[in-house]
Amino acid sequence: MERRLVYMDYNATTPLRPEVKAAMIEDLEVFANASSMHEAGRRARARVEEARARVARLVGADDPERVIFTSGGSESNNTVFATMFHLGRAGSRRGIVTTKIEHPCVLNAAKWLEAEGFPVTFLDVDEYGMVRLDQLRASVGPDTLLVSVMAANNEIGTIQDMAAISGVAKAAGAFFHSDATQAVGKVRVDVREWGVDYMTMSCHKLYGPKGVGALYARPGAPLEPLIRGGHQEHGFRAGTYNNQGILGFGLAADLARAELDEYSARVRALRNRMRDGIVASVPKVRVNGHPESVLPNTLNVSFPGAEGEAILLSLDLEGIRVSTGSACASGSLEPSHVLLATGVGPELAHGSIRFSLGRDTTEAEVDYVVSKIGPIIARLRAMSTVSY
Ligand SMILES: Cc1ncc(COP(=O)(O)O)c(C=O)c1O
Repeated sequence: MERRLVYMDYNATTPLRPEVKAAMIEDLEVFANASSMHEAGRRARARVEEARARVARLVGADDPERVIFTSGGSESNNTVFATMFHLGRAGSRRGIVTTKIEHPCVLNAAKWLEAEGFPVTFLDVDEYGMVRLDQLRASVGPDTLLVSVMAANNEIGTIQDMAAISGVAKAAGAFFHSDATQAVGKVRVDVREWGVDYMTMSCHKLYGPKGVGALYARPGAPLEPLIRGGHQEHGFRAGTYNNQGILGFGLAADLARAELDEYSARVRALRNRMRDGIVASVPKVRVNGHPESVLPNTLNVSFPGAEGEAILLSLDLEGIRVSTGSACASGSLEPSHVLLATGVGPELAHGSIRFSLGRDTTEAEVDYVVSKIGPIIARLRAMSTVSY
């Protein structure tokens, strides 16, 4: 089989859709500041507001005004935690309840609040990466200010029971935030059904540009700006509008909404084909994440007796782009905090690969990757001193 270039890292980022790219290039001609009152400014602003309505529609938000454009998921999440900082200092509730498997931008924002004296609970998850509802109930009480649980995990794809988690937060009178960065555009998201007070989105995960995202805040939910300055976004997020990014986000959101069912059915079939192919051709693998409540495009596999970075680099030599579950932290290779939280030991966590499929993935690509992975794992295992 000839060498191909196969991108299977769509959870890291997605390519810009050609339609989105074309619309953004056209929009570059409308160079006006969307806050200017003259005709060109008003025209630019109308495009921003149309994009806002489109993003709101994608997530079932009735009130587009409560969709605040930001620079991405990290900023949206930090805006929620900064809001809690102000609320907690002014009021009696200060408890923060989140999970051990959040993205670093939530984990580190929660650790910041902890350092500021807020009591923070990092919930465990079960072997599939699901929050344990009994532990959640036991951790939430009259002092809880915020429950923050990601909708879908970026490494293993596990999707949480949002309505149940929201119910627990609401019953205690706490705010509920969800980082839905990986869910939006991949599965149906409805802010009302999920009962979120705050929800985070990022455009570059849904075939739009990088550097733009949004925070949904339920009408009436308090919000403090992270970036103070002008009156843009009702004063919740200052700074001149990123016209092209926002326009691209709106179009990407509309396309994702129109194609959601077809996309998820197609990519799920490809993911399952890949999973079955790997399980059939490589002995002793472990598929991580929930078997059903999981993103349709995500496949995380542990290969005992092989090391993740070595697998990644061997796949890269074959033109295949994937991620390990581990992050390179200050020069030392840390095993994935997500896999560790699911009970996978450090050794196995080190030997894990995330394949994330997308709109452009084909059956031929899946078969190509499956054909390459077996020999690579066999070679690495033959060199390994670890018994498995
Ligand atoms: C779950 C999750 N949250 C937040 C982020 C950060 O989003 P952004 O890159 O837009 O800051 C990511 C991106 O990797 C993510 O996967």
